[in-house]
Amino acid sequence: MRAAAFRSGARRAGDPILSHSDHTSPLEARKSAALSGTARVPGDKSISHRALILGALAVGETRISGLLEGEDVLNTAKAMRALGAKVERTGDCAWSVHGVGVAGFAAPGAPLDFGNSGTGCRLAMGAVAGSPITAIFDGDASLRSRPMRRIVDPLEQMGARVVSCSEGGRLPLTLAGARDPLPITYRTPVPSAQIKSAVLLAGLSAPGITTVIEAEASRDHTELMLQHFGATIVTEPEGAHGRKISLTGQPELRGAPVVVPADPSSAAFPMVAALVVPGSDIVLTDVMTNPLRTGLITTLREMGGLIEESETRGDAGEPMARFRIRGSQLHGVEVPPERAPSMIDEYLVLAVAAAFAEGTTVMRGLHELRVKESDRLEATADMLRVNGVKVEIVGDDLIVEGRGHVPGGGLVATHMDHRIAMSALVMGLAANKPVTIDDTTFIATSFPDFVPMMQRLGGTFG
Ligand code: S3P
Repeated sequence: MRAAAFRSGARRAGDPILSHSDHTSPLEARKSAALSGTARVPGDKSISHRALILGALAVGETRISGLLEGEDVLNTAKAMRALGAKVERTGDCAWSVHGVGVAGFAAPGAPLDFGNSGTGCRLAMGAVAGSPITAIFDGDASLRSRPMRRIVDPLEQMGARVVSCSEGGRLPLTLAGARDPLPITYRTPVPSAQIKSAVLLAGLSAPGITTVIEAEASRDHTELMLQHFGATIVTEPEGAHGRKISLTGQPELRGAPVVVPADPSSAAFPMVAALVVPGSDIVLTDVMTNPLRTGLITTLREMGGLIEESETRGDAGEPMARFRIRGSQLHGVEVPPERAPSMIDEYLVLAVAAAFAEGTTVMRGLHELRVKESDRLEATADMLRVNGVKVEIVGDDLIVEGRGHVPGGGLVATHMDHRIAMSALVMGLAANKPVTIDDTTFIATSFPDFVPMMQRLGGTFG
């Protein structure tokens, strides 16, 4: 199958909510010659969602360049439009948002469909919780299976109300925003930027100080962007690895330009592909290097990965750099649990690197992987097992026995999860026998150009 066929299977934003079996599009990745060339992966997904949401809550215009035009983000754009903001595409990955001001959302006329995206849905819940409107939140079968109580619990403490929801607090969920939101101090039960961001976004409309305390620091894009838009937000250290974040409520958020750097979570796929395909030498440009997102790069370097960083520069508080990555002989390492928040979306592709390494890699403290787009702990183990790699789950730890090569030949179930699909295809580029995935459809949520870009670097798909 070629890239054209890959594209034809993709679900478009705005299509009705589909079950996994509606149309699938399998693809095989084959052992490839050395990868080479320069690429820029699409814009960061976390920052893209936030630029649209903060733009919608600000007064005046927010011009965004480099926005990720993947389905997840396009769904957020549609939701912001439905809530009253003017959101327009002005060019290639260039968007303009005219916001309604803090607490200024209008009640949407139809359910808000966030497709596959936990981030879009959960951050929008926070923003809606601070407006005196009612909205229905919905998504695809994957998103409908994910926990939402962790978000609505603090939002209810702030005065929002769940009018109705599915069993276990899941989507579809109707949320009534608070008329007079209360500022709270909230300790997140798990390190999660989504929970933290939902509370901070609701806190924008509350008088006084809203505080979030996290035991382990999670990505801080919401804090950085709120500051960039004129809010007062103070971050202090908390314990060994945590943070205390205090936001002064009811700021006048002003629209501001946002340049979205390339997504390190997407760069992770060509990066690992170049490390495991012998003789490869590639360059990835403009990759965001916010230290709360670079746990994978730290780990791959510890494994012996040849990854050189240059031209580091910053924009609106988010640094970025150019990376040269070369084929490397990797060895197994132990990844400490406190590193998990800085690489939470990268364990699948790290497990692929670990399978090609010599020796055992132990990844500790991965309980949060169970509630992502799929149960990623089980799915990662299955992906490796069906391709002849020895792997074990012990409690919340994943243990991969690397043997320097991967037999391959397996069919990988992607479970509506873009990152399983891309990780398995990366494995196929270096495995002895081809690796097939059951469905490419969900790659379009975060990295629509993944297969053509990997082909340009020399990857073989068939
Ligand atoms: C994200 C936070 C993470 C991550 C997700 C994006 C964000 O989720 O897995 O892909 O943009 O805030 P959690 O906050 O639930 O860990």
